[in-house]
Amino acid sequence: MCKTVWITGASSGIGAALAVRYSEMGCRVIMSARNVERLESVRQQCVNPDNCFIVPLDLSDQTSLAYAADEVLSRFCKVDILINNGGISQRSMVAETPIDIDRRVMEVDYFSGVYLTKRVLPSMLEHGGGHIVAISSIVGVFGFPQRSAYSAAKHAIHGFYETVWAELHDRGIGITIVCPGRIMTDISLHALTKDGTEHGIMDHAQQHGISARTCANRIVRAVERGRKEIYVCQKDILMVYFHRYMRWFYYALVSKVKPNS
Ligand SMILES: NC(=O)c1ccc[n+]([C@@H]2O[C@H](COP(=O)([O-])OP(=O)(O)OC[C@H]3O[C@@H](n4cnc5c(N)ncnc54)[C@H](OP(=O)(O)O)[C@@H]3O)[C@@H](O)[C@H]2O)c1
Repeated sequence: MCKTVWITGASSGIGAALAVRYSEMGCRVIMSARNVERLESVRQQCVNPDNCFIVPLDLSDQTSLAYAADEVLSRFCKVDILINNGGISQRSMVAETPIDIDRRVMEVDYFSGVYLTKRVLPSMLEHGGGHIVAISSIVGVFGFPQRSAYSAAKHAIHGFYETVWAELHDRGIGITIVCPGRIMTDISLHALTKDGTEHGIMDHAQQHGISARTCANRIVRAVERGRKEIYVCQKDILMVYFHRYMRWFYYALVSKVKPNS
């Protein structure tokens, strides 16, 4: 069945791979981000570009989100799958990071998804249901140096979307929270530093991460199976287990993490 899938952060990395994957499945794909040129290039990689639509938005700006949501809902009536994927990471120590950076990361990585979820939910409910995917991170389940705001925003995602499921699963709303480990994308290049500039460094571990394509395939499969939470990891999954079952060992390891890891 042809589904309408709205993906934020579709101009790059995991979002771009998801757009291509869903287009291969015959879905109508709505792609959002700020960089329209890159969105257009992703659209051209899709199987049927005429069935893929670009709706630009800035996740840090609620007026822009409102405008994009109005456009999507008036043009397409219903979104079957909303993927709150767009985001930025961080590379700065807590003690040196001005609160404005924390707020910026929270706006982009957390509040934007909350806003879009609230906008699409009424039409999903009216049409019998829908599915919302939130891209968290493994640092959405434990703290990690130089990621205080990023980790906090990703933790917040879990509380919000688990509550969405608790309140609305019996009205046809599904959720999938995705916790990737290292995925080979540009995320570390664009991570915010303490003065708001971009980190500009491809982290070593990032470079050896899972491909965005593999990550997208895992996400698509998880949505099809109605999985509520998945981890897309290599050996970095160990930190999740240490945090959950051997908390003392997690503290020992996390205190030794080197910069740019
Ligand atoms: N890569 C990893 O290792 C990893 C690990 C865990 C979680 N994640 C999560 O996966 C998601 C996708 O990241 P990625 O790895 O694919 O990184 P990426 O290649 O840097 O992609 C980030 C996407 O977010 C968009 N974006 C950033 N700020 C935006 C804003 N203010 N308004 C609109 N769009 C914005 C970017 O588009 P524009 O610049 O065109 O706006 C881009 O499309 C993020 O939520 C990230 O936290 C990634």
